[in-house]
Amino acid sequence: MKKTRYALALALCGITAFAHGAAPVNLIPMPAQLSVSGDTFTVSAQTPIVVDGSDADARRTAEYLASLTAHTRHLQLQVKTGAPENGAIVLKRDPQAPVANEEGYALDVTPQGIRVVARDEAGLFYGAITAWQLLTPAPGEGDVHVQPVHIRDQPRFAWRGLMLDSARHFQTPDEVRTLIDQMAQHKLNVLHWHLADDQGWRIEIKRYPDLTRIGAWRTPPTTGKQPAPKPYGGFYTQDDIRAVVAYAAERHITVVPEIDMPGHAQAAIASYPELGVTGTRPPVSADWGVNPYLYNVDDHTIEFLHNVLDEVMALFPSTYIHVGGDEAVKDQWKASAAVQARMRALNIKTEDAMQSWFIEQMGKYLAAHNRRLIGWDEILEGGVPPSATVMSWRGTKGAIDAAKLGHDVVLAPAPQLYMDSMQSDRADETTGRLPSMSLQSYYTFEAVPKELNAAQAKHVLGMQATIFTEHMPTMRHVEYAAFPRMDALAEAAWTPVKVRDWHGFLERMPSQLARYRVQDIAYADSAFAPSIDVDRNAAIASGRASVTLSNQARFGNVHYTIDGSEPSASSPLYVRPFNVNLPTTVKAVALADDGTPLAAARTRVLDLPSLRTRGTGELENCAGSDFRLRVQPTPDATSMAPTYLINVFDNCRVYKAAKLDGIAGIRVDTATLPRNYALAHDAKLVVSHKASTPQGELVVHLDSCKGREVASLPLPADAPATFTLQGALAKQAGTHDLCLVFTSPITGPIWGVGAVTLLPADKAAP
Ligand code: ACM
Repeated sequence: MKKTRYALALALCGITAFAHGAAPVNLIPMPAQLSVSGDTFTVSAQTPIVVDGSDADARRTAEYLASLTAHTRHLQLQVKTGAPENGAIVLKRDPQAPVANEEGYALDVTPQGIRVVARDEAGLFYGAITAWQLLTPAPGEGDVHVQPVHIRDQPRFAWRGLMLDSARHFQTPDEVRTLIDQMAQHKLNVLHWHLADDQGWRIEIKRYPDLTRIGAWRTPPTTGKQPAPKPYGGFYTQDDIRAVVAYAAERHITVVPEIDMPGHAQAAIASYPELGVTGTRPPVSADWGVNPYLYNVDDHTIEFLHNVLDEVMALFPSTYIHVGGDEAVKDQWKASAAVQARMRALNIKTEDAMQSWFIEQMGKYLAAHNRRLIGWDEILEGGVPPSATVMSWRGTKGAIDAAKLGHDVVLAPAPQLYMDSMQSDRADETTGRLPSMSLQSYYTFEAVPKELNAAQAKHVLGMQATIFTEHMPTMRHVEYAAFPRMDALAEAAWTPVKVRDWHGFLERMPSQLARYRVQDIAYADSAFAPSIDVDRNAAIASGRASVTLSNQARFGNVHYTIDGSEPSASSPLYVRPFNVNLPTTVKAVALADDGTPLAAARTRVLDLPSLRTRGTGELENCAGSDFRLRVQPTPDATSMAPTYLINVFDNCRVYKAAKLDGIAGIRVDTATLPRNYALAHDAKLVVSHKASTPQGELVVHLDSCKGREVASLPLPADAPATFTLQGALAKQAGTHDLCLVFTSPITGPIWGVGAVTLLPADKAAP
């Protein structure tokens, strides 16, 4: 933990010397080759950025570097045109530059200045981003003594992507630009923009105005007595799209649009019911999951989609156009006489083959316009045109199968690269799916499956993280999900395997977190946040607790207090578990070696009531299903908390190892949550528990969900958004699991459990 960043650079690159007093080399992603030798160069407000006057792209890149540096370091550098000069940051395109490809660059820091050379615009841009990171090595302002680094760099993969779902929740164009800026700072180069889904159509199509007049708006679900909700939605005008695409292009990011088909089509069918199979107009969906609405397969619908693609291609210069293809449950096609007749006419035997035909209609159309089709891995089912590129999301199998068949592939597997996966199991996380995918799991993800031989591996274009936003109603949620895992993604996608080093990456994180803070990016501190752990039952029995402090990344210096004061670098450093008497409030903070915070301080009150309380994230699923999702009380929440960990298949939670000596009651903080999940064929797996009253009750069983009933708390008939259930719990001795089952009808709300508190006899009166 005490290894310095200088030592890191030395260890990685076999460097022989480094300059004392200079800033550390805190680059993310780590360059392919880096060495440190010679003397430092000091950048001050007098240091110009010099570009060739005839090179408009270099000038734009120089201005970007100047604006980033002004914003993040309060160092206002002037851009000058002219011949390279000493004492400057020189950005120069040179056909002879010693670089591997168009994204490569060379950067040298000497006492005479910083010199970035590249053959092409993209390489020069990436060199400028590296220069900016050298100018923001650590929190601070003003002059920087830059290490004498010598960098030869280019990316490992050509596709370094991020998918943003603007259909489930809408981000404003400015918010999308915030994400694009961060992608640029991470040398990511593909923004895959998910623009149409069951819950919203977000791109203006001039020929079909109802797609956004109707399809961009949905009515959020309600539960119980809430007032009728306002429609939720929004869309991007074609001018908005052009501006975003141009903004991304200036940052060397290609925007690949996705129009999902033949499934995830409910918003389009809500706009134009004749595109669907049933002939009826569904609402724009407010349900998460797999909805049943598919496009039909007649000529009119194929023509509609071609016309949509015409406008999409006019807006997006990207070679690739994404046509989705995922999760198209074929029930409607199976049940439709018209679809079946069309299949017979085309001599197509299965619905999967029909989907292939459908996708091929798009592939041919795109090819005729010099574009290429990319789709989720379901496009492999039933056969796919050889020119199609496959994005593997259902694990890595799709990528392996596709690459073996000779298709290009992009690795975007769930759950590994899905940013809607929570980042830890901490109680204070916001929304997301479990299992959690940690910063380290992102970092160590290897995009080339070992099942591929060298020739097949050449089909791996790269990797991509996805931000599906069902449970990210605000940009704050998006940022929390994306950062700092984007750093790990960027390094996995850019840096050669032999240079990747998790511990070195951690050493570079404090600077990166500081860059986020200065730019007001709401990153998650889950990897570094201190956990304050005790053996609850031992503490309840003895009145003393042995406290263990740790964090997920096992990185940083954890300082703590037990007197209620805020912890800081001068508070005791945690080295081993320590004992406290109850009641005590423990506060802990994780700091980098230079004292900057890695995570906000955390507090844990250790007293009998809190030791007898389990928060939503500390309750487990009942046996039978491991589906776990953390949601908020309304689908369009405006803040990050509170959250409720639910299992949509079984409204049941387990309080493990409850110490029941002296306990006579139970209190359950409960939330009424909409049951807005489209489960397709899995709907039959939803468990229904027998109720004693029409509105049902919360029944508590001892030891297992089949065990003896020890409490039954009636649920309110017309429940408010949140309420407290409290009642007697039959007295027991010893330690037992408690199974909490909600018996209300599965057509009603899902009950979220915020916390369960066990009450001693003197507190148990209802
Ligand atoms: C997907 O997650 N349905 C691609």
